[in-house]
Amino acid sequence: MPRILKVDPWNPEEEFIEEGAALLRAGRLVAFPTETVYGLGANGLDGRAVGRIFSAKGRPGDNPLILHFSAPEEAEGAAILTERARCLMDLFWPGPLTLVLPVREGIPPEVTAGLSTVAVRMPSHPVALALLARTGLPVAAPSANSSGRPSPTDAASVASDLGDRVDLILDGGSSSVGVESTVLDLTGPDMILLRPGGCPVEEIEARTGERVLLAGGSTNRSPGTRYRHYAPLVPLLIAGDEGVRERVSAHRGRVGWIGMASPETFFAPGIVPDEYAIRFSNPENYARGLFSALRTLEASGARLIAAEWPEEKGIGRALRDRLYRASRE
Ligand code: TXA
Ligand code: MG
Repeated sequence: MPRILKVDPWNPEEEFIEEGAALLRAGRLVAFPTETVYGLGANGLDGRAVGRIFSAKGRPGDNPLILHFSAPEEAEGAAILTERARCLMDLFWPGPLTLVLPVREGIPPEVTAGLSTVAVRMPSHPVALALLARTGLPVAAPSANSSGRPSPTDAASVASDLGDRVDLILDGGSSSVGVESTVLDLTGPDMILLRPGGCPVEEIEARTGERVLLAGGSTNRSPGTRYRHYAPLVPLLIAGDEGVRERVSAHRGRVGWIGMASPETFFAPGIVPDEYAIRFSNPENYARGLFSALRTLEASGARLIAAEWPEEKGIGRALRDRLYRASRE
């Protein structure tokens, strides 16, 4: 078991934050809470430390990492900020929005996977902010799951995926957003959405007065979106898809459910037993609970998980993306 320190999320204990910061400075790995999901952090200026992230997660080396900062000005040391980037930082930082910008010299290729761009973000979770401020370094951090698994939204999920491949877990409670940050490419003339996430596209458009274009073919999407992702240990099916009713009926009584509606909207009574039905009152709560519901149901004895396909608006766009990729076999 890794070392886990429970930290007060509203008033992080200084000695715990210092312990995390000291490990990061020494090239070790520290998992910490953000408002989206838990991150697996390393000193973003130390290529060897960053390399440890890839081995701990089993992550493909060609998938670049996000650098985290405790203030917008600090991102300036790693990325070349455009007028538009500053405007978005003003509007949305700290918060679940990651910006891809031209990289400055001195950022190790382990962070960028050798690209000429770098992803930067300032999270809003007080524990993350305290750790970043105390460390005084850009902290490279992917989600703190084993590669391919659902992202962790609490310390127990990090511990169960990574064990003692992580040197310390700062436990600051459950992540409030529950899905990762929105990733926007700002390197060209248009804002391009590389990954839908916690910051809805509609909000970006409304507050900037500009359009966000959706990434087209597989080439200009985030490298990370190429891989199988978020998958629970049992198959995940989308309710309403072709053939799902038949597959689900074959496992009557052993089917898990995640969604806002009742499973009986889609399936006959008895297919999903009450104890296997995890329901949310709105799309925001669905996003907040999705990854932990996948982990709960895979451990519950359910043979299949069926999920409701939400509307493609607001946080629903990120939910659809995660559900789609978790359901690909
Ligand atoms: O909410 C989040 O973003 C969380 C927390 C911990 O901050 N982090 C996270 O990191 O989700 P990760 O590594 O799981 O996802 C980062 C995504 C990947 O899809 C990656 O390919 C993309 O960002 N990315 C990173 N650098 C990039 C770059 N230079 N160009 C394009 N995409 C990039
Ligand atoms: Mg991830």
